[in-house]
Order: sequence, then C-alpha cells, then structure tokens
Amino acid sequence: MFAKKTMSVVIGLAFGAEFLITVWAQVRPGDGPRYVNGSSLARPTDYREWVYVGGGLGLTYEQSRNPQATPRFGNVFVNPSAYRSFMQTGVWPNGTVLVLESRFAGTDEFVSNNGKFQGALRALEAEVKDSRFPDGWAFYNFGTADALRDVAEPLAGEEVQRCITCHTEHTAVERTFVQFYPTLLEAARQKGTVKPGF
Ligand code: HEC
Repeated sequence: MFAKKTMSVVIGLAFGAEFLITVWAQVRPGDGPRYVNGSSLARPTDYREWVYVGGGLGLTYEQSRNPQATPRFGNVFVNPSAYRSFMQTGVWPNGTVLVLESRFAGTDEFVSNNGKFQGALRALEAEVKDSRFPDGWAFYNFGTADALRDVAEPLAGEEVQRCITCHTEHTAVERTFVQFYPTLLEAARQKGTVKPGF
C-alpha cells in the first residue's frame, strides 16, 4: 500500500515536471531568428537587449560613395546565445542573428567642437547564419527608420550579391566584420578562426 502510494507520487511528480518543462519551453523560446513563411525574418524588437559587440563611426560603406556626407554611427548587436557560443568556439553557430543599426550623428557645440553623439535611428539591417540558406547566410534590409518593415524577405539576386561580396572579401571571420568588434576579435584570435591577413 505504502509502496503503491509512493509510486503514484513519483509518477505524478515526473508528469508535473515534464508539463512544467513543456510550458517553460513555450514561454521562453530561443533567441534565434523568428521566421515568417519559412525564410522571411521578423524584425527583432528586443535587439537592444542583446549583446552589443561594437560600433563604428563612418565605417558604413555608403560613405565611400559620398565622402562629404556626415558620418553615421553603426551599432552591431547579436543574440546572446550566439555571442556565448562564439566566445567559446570562435565561429558563429546556426541561428546567429546580427543586427546593424545605423544612427545619425549629432553635435553639440557647447560640449566639444568635434565631439559627436548618436542621434536618431536611420536604418536597420540584419544577417542570419542558417545552413538552410544556399550560402549558409541570409541578408535582410528592414529599411529606413521612417518606414521600418516588420518582416523582411531575404535579399536576393544582385542586391544580396553586393552584401555577400563585401562581407566575404573584407571580413575577418566568416561573413562578419569581427575586426571591428574587440571582444569577438580576441576570442577568434585565440581560437585561430581569423582569416589570413587580419
Ligand atoms: C562595401 C562593403 C559592404 C557591403 C556591400 C555591405 N556591407 Fe554590411 N557591413 C560592412 C561594414 C564595413 C560593416 C561593419 C560595421 C559598420 O558598418 O559600422 C558591416 C556590417 C554589417 C552587419 C553587422 C554584422 C557584420 O557582418 O559585421 C550587418 C548585419 C550588415 N553589414 C548587413 C549588410 C547587408 C544586409 C548588406 C547588403 C544589403 C550589406 N551589409 C552590404 C560593409 C558592407
């Protein structure tokens, strides 16, 4: 009698635990890409709570076309699980999402003549590593701040070729500009995953 009761309590607890784990998994999905219709990317709304890997001023490729333009800030964020994985291995795991946020630069004459601060959002782009894509990576453009898309299709044809070419020829690790992200660069150097020449 006693043994039977204990048994049912144990079974009950096991089912309870399984139920809790199932609920927990639904409430806390991974921090990877959220796809719509298979390959379109839902714009990550919480990327500012991700890991900030680095930022540049005037690094954006558009400057080369117009050297007179006021430089813009670029801020790069990555989903936390991918960041942790990169720090341990020096390579990006499947399900990596990198967001490039472009912001206008502001100046304040009372603080400093040459100092610049980050102003309003200008545009948002993203890049996802996923072996389902032919290149292993997909590139997305969410557009400019005045008309941000909630969902972006993966760029295709000539448009994506531009991204891939520059992100292959000038990047230190895989398709990413790790040379501009100090903690990532250090980890990649330790793991020996930096491309020759960087
Ligand atoms: C001519 C070179 C060039 C082209 C073309 C280019 N990028 Fe980049 N990209 C850069 C540089 C340089 C950075 C470093 C960060 C910055 O701009 O401040 C970068 C960074 C990024 C990042 C942050 C993660 C990383 O790879 O380091 C994303 C996301 C990104 N670009 C998306 C795109 C998309 C989408 C396209 C195509 C529409 C594109 N890029 C085309 C040069 C390029």
